[in-house]
Amino acid sequence: MQRVKDQDRRLIEITIDGWTLSAMEGDTVMVAILSQRPFLRQSSAQEPAGAGFCLMGACQDCWIWLEDGRRIRACTTYIEPGMRIRTTWPDRLLAS
Ligand code: FES
Repeated sequence: MQRVKDQDRRLIEITIDGWTLSAMEGDTVMVAILSQRPFLRQSSAQEPAGAGFCLMGACQDCWIWLEDGRRIRACTTYIEPGMRIRTTWPDRLLAS
């Protein structure tokens, strides 16, 4: 995904899978991730990487997590400053 418009919005720092990056205010989580890499998440080594399908909250193909374990739909959730996102199931939830 390549941004071609609205490139002068304020930058917001977020963390995705432990990597800090900048996204633009008003981006959805999906736009923030897909503008940095070609896939949203990879469910397993056997499945192809996914990038959502409908981009409008209907197909349920873009669920990812916040580090506190809450599940979010990437295409309908807007980024917030300091947001900590996981594209794989948060490890610490497995230990508890
Ligand atoms: S991409 Fe379809 S619900 Fe998010």
